[in-house]
Amino acid sequence: MILHISPGNNNYDILIERGCLKKASSSLHLQRKVLIVTDSGVPAHYVKMLADACKQPVICTIGQGEVNKNLQNYQYLLSTMLACRFTRKDCVAAVGGGVCGDLAGFAAAGYMRGIDFYNIPTTLLSQVDSSIGGKTAVNLDGIKNAVGAFYHPRKVLIDADVLKTLPQRHLSAGLAEALKMAITFDEDFFRLFEENQVFSDLESVIRRSLLIKKEVVEQDETEQGLRRVLNFGHTIGHGIESQVSDGSLYHGECVAIGMLPMCSPQIMKRLLPIYDKLNLPSSCRMDLDAVCSSMLHDKKSEDGKITIVETDRIGSYRMRTADPAELREKAAMVIR
Ligand code: GLY
Repeated sequence: MILHISPGNNNYDILIERGCLKKASSSLHLQRKVLIVTDSGVPAHYVKMLADACKQPVICTIGQGEVNKNLQNYQYLLSTMLACRFTRKDCVAAVGGGVCGDLAGFAAAGYMRGIDFYNIPTTLLSQVDSSIGGKTAVNLDGIKNAVGAFYHPRKVLIDADVLKTLPQRHLSAGLAEALKMAITFDEDFFRLFEENQVFSDLESVIRRSLLIKKEVVEQDETEQGLRRVLNFGHTIGHGIESQVSDGSLYHGECVAIGMLPMCSPQIMKRLLPIYDKLNLPSSCRMDLDAVCSSMLHDKKSEDGKITIVETDRIGSYRMRTADPAELREKAAMVIR
């Protein structure tokens, strides 16, 4: 299946097809220098599949985890391209999860004021959410995605075959982001989670999530309004994530915890059994003050107020601003 997306003045295809990584040369222009950005957790044979299809591949492998989405690695990618004499006609391709995609996309945006970027997400989380929509960034001084750009890939290849090697915990963390879309936009999709069919039909989870994301991003490319709904669960989620520098909680797990206080008690009652089935955490042990301070320093905070997304009916959402005291109260519901 090809999903065509046109956010703002951009246009690109998302190819959702089992085996498309193996056949990358039929959909990507690889007869040039290609900086392949990957991380140490990605199985080497996925990287080799792409490298073998490139005329002049240059592989950069970064460490695994959010801490590696930093300016040092950004510079490493740019310096490598300069040293290898990449021109504006060459390109960058990410083979990995959200960290690789965000970092590689930002490097493509910055190098020579912008060169082609391809994204080949290999985690469920990046396949259902972060690989499309053009958000690229690195973290700075403990603030997630503090420096970045909206820069869209030329093409995204989504190959569900690569999920076969993904540990179960990563699958669950990815499902949390898909659940976010179902809760806020699509009750029928939500029922798929309740009826326990998600693991057996990941392709349908990917397709349904991306259809929702496409609609949102096409209407609000740069997050002036509607796109903020995709931050459902992320205000408290990012606050929690900022306190786990050891990576003991994955991004999707932090979002799962962060979604709960934004739901009515009735929805929470429907969500908790799903969390149990997916093995997602519903609370965590952490310093509440530190989480709150980080939430207020989040780049989404405006004059100390933060737009939150809440829901009291599956398939719908509302947005409003909340002050620090209210956010603290909500965070206290899931932080022990
Ligand atoms: N992952 C949220 C967004 O793309 O806006």
